[in-house]
Amino acid sequence: MAIELFNQDGHVCLMFAHLSDEGGDAVQANQFLVIHGDTGAIIDPGGNMAYNELLLTIGRFFPPSKLSKILASHADPDIIASLDRWMTSTQATLYISRLWERFAPHFCKPGKTQGRIIGIPDPGMRIPLGNTELVALPAHFMHSEGNFQFWDPVSRILFSGDLGVSMGTSLDASSPVTSLAAHIPKMAAFHRRYMVSNKVLRLWANMARSLPIQMIVPQHGAPMAGAAVQEFIEWIGTIDCGVDHLTQANYAVPA
Ligand SMILES: [Fe+2]
Ligand SMILES: [Fe+2]
Repeated sequence: MAIELFNQDGHVCLMFAHLSDEGGDAVQANQFLVIHGDTGAIIDPGGNMAYNELLLTIGRFFPPSKLSKILASHADPDIIASLDRWMTSTQATLYISRLWERFAPHFCKPGKTQGRIIGIPDPGMRIPLGNTELVALPAHFMHSEGNFQFWDPVSRILFSGDLGVSMGTSLDASSPVTSLAAHIPKMAAFHRRYMVSNKVLRLWANMARSLPIQMIVPQHGAPMAGAAVQEFIEWIGTIDCGVDHLTQANYAVPA
């Protein structure tokens, strides 16, 4: 079942939390569908486990062949491993960082991505969707070197990729968190290891404060809404992570 994050005047934001194989080895992951009138975009469609249900859900709104955009926050397998199937069943264009533009075709059969990938430049860009747009916001090194988040100015949802993720089950992910304190233990270890440095988190927080964000929706775990949005923006700038912790001891030849 899709989780409806927003639905107003033909603009619908859906989240899928249960399509990765939690009984197996795969980490819980969320996929997103933004419908606008008779077109739409999928955000971080994930691996092959999620493909069938996403395609069926799109078909409830418009023929999947009319899907116009595939937005990828970065190039990890849980983000875009199903690219070959999407390139086959739709006419959609993939938007991904310029850093990954020539790497993403490795997920596909030769020629499948010809003329269908737009490399997002480092400063980000506005991506048209029907008569609205989605905004690719720079989120480099959070965690990937070429990394974007997608801001929807209609719903005011920030699809934050791997920033703000929490580790748990699809049930944990299915309802928004509105107060951050009790949620931090599910987020802290991931951010300390996967985020590259405190410096980039503080720069990101400054950018995030300039946006009217209704909800921060990460690619793993629960959305953050209400007071948790600003609490997260303040918390994330306070953590040391990634290279902040490293010493020579981390770069020693194993015994
Ligand atoms: Fe990732
Ligand atoms: Fe991820």
